[in-house]
Amino acid sequence: MPRVLSCIQPTGSVHLGNYLGALINWVSGQHEGDVYHGIVDLHALTITESPGILGKQTLELAAMLFAVGLDPDVATVFVQSHIHEHTELAWIMECTVSFGELSRMTQFKEKSAKRETDFVSAGLFTYPALQAADILLYDAQEVPVGDDQRQHIEITRDIAVRFNHRFGDTFVLPKAVHPKAGARVMDLQDPTSKMSKSSVTDNGLIYLLDDNATIEKKFKRAVTDSDGVVSYDRESKPGIANLLDILSACTGTTAEQLADKYSQYGPLKNDAGQAVIALVEPIRTRFHELMADPGELSRLLIIGNDRAREVAASTLSRAHKAIGLLPRI
Ligand code: AMP
Ligand code: TRP
Repeated sequence: MPRVLSCIQPTGSVHLGNYLGALINWVSGQHEGDVYHGIVDLHALTITESPGILGKQTLELAAMLFAVGLDPDVATVFVQSHIHEHTELAWIMECTVSFGELSRMTQFKEKSAKRETDFVSAGLFTYPALQAADILLYDAQEVPVGDDQRQHIEITRDIAVRFNHRFGDTFVLPKAVHPKAGARVMDLQDPTSKMSKSSVTDNGLIYLLDDNATIEKKFKRAVTDSDGVVSYDRESKPGIANLLDILSACTGTTAEQLADKYSQYGPLKNDAGQAVIALVEPIRTRFHELMADPGELSRLLIIGNDRAREVAASTLSRAHKAIGLLPRI
């Protein structure tokens, strides 16, 4: 089984796009690989400014990952800041990557430009070195990422190759893999844009923690079109296509087959809403159970953290030995 690493930043609440587009595949993927899932809170630090928020978001995301079905006995779920090897290896990574290489990172250029007069931390610049540490610590062979992260996996490979060349074979070379195609969920109010936490209003977003009445209301108000015919066409009927795609992702029936079953928008909106409720209600219940039982949640996290720490410590020590640092006395 390949060793697979995916990481997610604890920023914002998990929405239906995250679930149907990514998390649902994490759950099925846990039986197809030796999977590690990091909640990368230290990465979020590059832009988080308010005190006291990150820890709460980290805990909630952990509860959500278990609630959607990651099984701690199978998948290793860990918190990045609980494994000190990440920041220790990150320094070694920083000394193995050049200023020029980091300067070419598109994500840094974009994020720093967007911050304009805001504080641009050095951490935002060296971010790929920490990400390289995340990946190389676990001897990850596969890293499922979207296109925006491919450059970061490439630089990780370059760092690994350079380190191995300087100090001898130490790190496994990772490769970026396309995550299994999940559904692409669009905003219910603006079905030509992806459902996203950066959207201007919450009305087009379904959060996994929304209550049933809110979900029903958001589906009822979903933007459609005025021609009144149910057919599956993403280009000319994006609102209807999105509802069909969501219903399809929840039921397993294809969007085209579903389109044949409806002649009016109202019942389609209603059924899509009910299908989503049926899918997320048990997740929400499990989430609240876990949040109400901190002992159990800690127990689950400790299982993952312990397993992650063991692998990370052994890789870091291999790197120290390869460099020839004086062994601890
Ligand atoms: P983000 O919240 O943008 O950091 O994304 C976390 C994960 O959810 C990534 O794997 C994204 O590809 C996936 N994702 C985010 N929004 C959507 C969406 N609207 N439809 C499908 N997948 C999504
Ligand atoms: N940079 C990634 C993002 O913005 C998150 C991330 C951090 C990551 N470390 C990683 C992704 C290691 C894959 C592997 O989404």
